[in-house]
Amino acid sequence: MDLKTIKSLDIKGKKVLVRVDFNVPLDEQGKVADDSRIKATLPTIEYLLGAGAAVILMSHLGRPKGKVVDQLRLDDVARRLGELLGKPVKKVDDCIGPEAAKAAEELKPGEVLLLENLRFHPEEEKNDPEFAKSLASLAEIYINDAFGTAHRAHASTAGVASYLPAAAGLLMEKEIKALGSILTDPDHPFVAVLGGAKVSDKIGVLNNLLGQVDAILLGGGMANTFLKAQGAQMGDSLVDEDHLEFAADFLNKAKERGVRVELPVDLRVTTGEEGEVKIVDSQKVPDGWKAMDIGPRTAECYAELIKKAKTAFWNGPMGVFEKDEFAGGSEAVARALTHPGLVSVVGGGDSLAVLEKYGLKEQVTHASTGGGASLEFLEGKELPGVAVLCRD
Ligand code: 3PG
Repeated sequence: MDLKTIKSLDIKGKKVLVRVDFNVPLDEQGKVADDSRIKATLPTIEYLLGAGAAVILMSHLGRPKGKVVDQLRLDDVARRLGELLGKPVKKVDDCIGPEAAKAAEELKPGEVLLLENLRFHPEEEKNDPEFAKSLASLAEIYINDAFGTAHRAHASTAGVASYLPAAAGLLMEKEIKALGSILTDPDHPFVAVLGGAKVSDKIGVLNNLLGQVDAILLGGGMANTFLKAQGAQMGDSLVDEDHLEFAADFLNKAKERGVRVELPVDLRVTTGEEGEVKIVDSQKVPDGWKAMDIGPRTAECYAELIKKAKTAFWNGPMGVFEKDEFAGGSEAVARALTHPGLVSVVGGGDSLAVLEKYGLKEQVTHASTGGGASLEFLEGKELPGVAVLCRD
């Protein structure tokens, strides 16, 4: 992949339009609850400011479906970004139109402007060419640093590149290098740890990783489906009946290819909200009980396999980690990923939340800002927001 990067462009004195992914969680007061994605774009913004550019930032926030939703305005994001940059961030209440055009026109080198939520306009998600042209008219150069949104073919992630010289920002470049290297040149043994609730979210990545990894360790709700496909009794656990056949076929395919697929040997189960909790054999979850986390024997086994690997990718928690009593499996995986010498790449909001919960985010090799984007990348799909940044 021959990605055009920010360093290949002459930026001095130019107006630069930067797509960032400021789709951050908000608290009940509408304030930024987690600023990781804002922090992750600072290297690009600071690089541009240092190189003498006037920086015009654009992002979506949430899914307002083409309408103005006051709770999804970017004002608090601008405030937080200003604090992090240590300089004022101007903010306008639309991303196109006269107010945005005037603010962009008046912006001087070294200054930062944040446009309003792109998804207040339905044309953004439709990748409407006129809308893309209006965004492009604000600047002379386009930088895409929004890896988290690179799997969307929207006006701001793909369309704009037809009208301006385009390149990847530093975060985009870092993400593609980190995720790309585990696909193209991983050190073996390479282990993938996949969890989360739904099998359907992981089919693409399971299929693609089968050709790359030495072992796949399954946990979370999705593991129940694989266990049931092998004949286990799952009690009242969440099972995706529509994917039992896929799970059985996948286990056979992995066996034929010599890829080890590990399923939980024990599970932490409960009778329900505030109910009793116990550990059971994963083959026999009693009726009235449901799996909430992998059990301690499984957690120990997974941690050992991760520590013996040279490369590991993790997406999806092993259990309902938001509750401490069901967080043990995810914590064990997260801690093992910090093993010295291991190249560990983590993607997905929930897995990142586990790393945050235990203060381990800085100790993995790469914590991706992309959830859906990192999965689609590892499925081997071309991401539209990346394709437009590559040389012909
Ligand atoms: C994300 O949080 O995964 C990205 O910002 C993309 O958001 P979307 O799923 O609403 O397109």
